[in-house]
Amino acid sequence: MNSISKLLSPFTFRNGATVKNRLGVAPMTNTQSQSDGSLGGDEFDWLEQLASGQFGLVMTCASHVCKTGQAWVGQLGIYDDSYIPGLKKIADMFKAHNTVGLVQLFHGGSRCPQRITGVQPCSASEFHLPIAGFEVPRPLTIAEIDKIIQAFADAAERADQVSDYSRY
Ligand SMILES: Cc1cc2nc3c(=O)[nH]c(=O)nc-3n(C[C@H](O)[C@H](O)[C@H](O)COP(=O)(O)O)c2cc1C
Repeated sequence: MNSISKLLSPFTFRNGATVKNRLGVAPMTNTQSQSDGSLGGDEFDWLEQLASGQFGLVMTCASHVCKTGQAWVGQLGIYDDSYIPGLKKIADMFKAHNTVGLVQLFHGGSRCPQRITGVQPCSASEFHLPIAGFEVPRPLTIAEIDKIIQAFADAAERADQVSDYSRY
């Protein structure tokens, strides 16, 4: 099999999901969702353009798993069940185009500006960078880290709820 034929041939992941080819789109934050994190029309249209363009795998933008983990205005949220209808709309669209979709789970940590989240950014430790407008993050407690880990798990559950691997 030459390299082009291999690129265009299917691939099955260990969990059984099969992509129709090995062309994938890396996550790209396009800031086209609503300011409350719900799915925006332009975000959906962008993802549909990629799916209809015959990519085997399309990843969404970084989607914040906590309200305070949001780094950009217009970022797609996945931290609450209220986002499930928008996520399902994306999953159904990917299915219609026979494209495997992945949602990128994200917490922006020190990159989450207070003007967006309303709180001081957090990180593993306090640190200073000589960058204009840099907001010094506060160190998280162990209990807070545990909560964020749980938020990633909850977000993964939401993504799982709208997906149906048997279709691949
Ligand atoms: C506009 C833009 C937005 C991006 N957003 C994300 C993102 O949300 N999550 C992420 O992990 N990477 C993001 N990236 C990085 C890309 O996914 C990719 O890793 C990077 O562009 C390098 O890919 P390349 O080597 O194919 O050019 C973004 C890149 C660009 C240009």
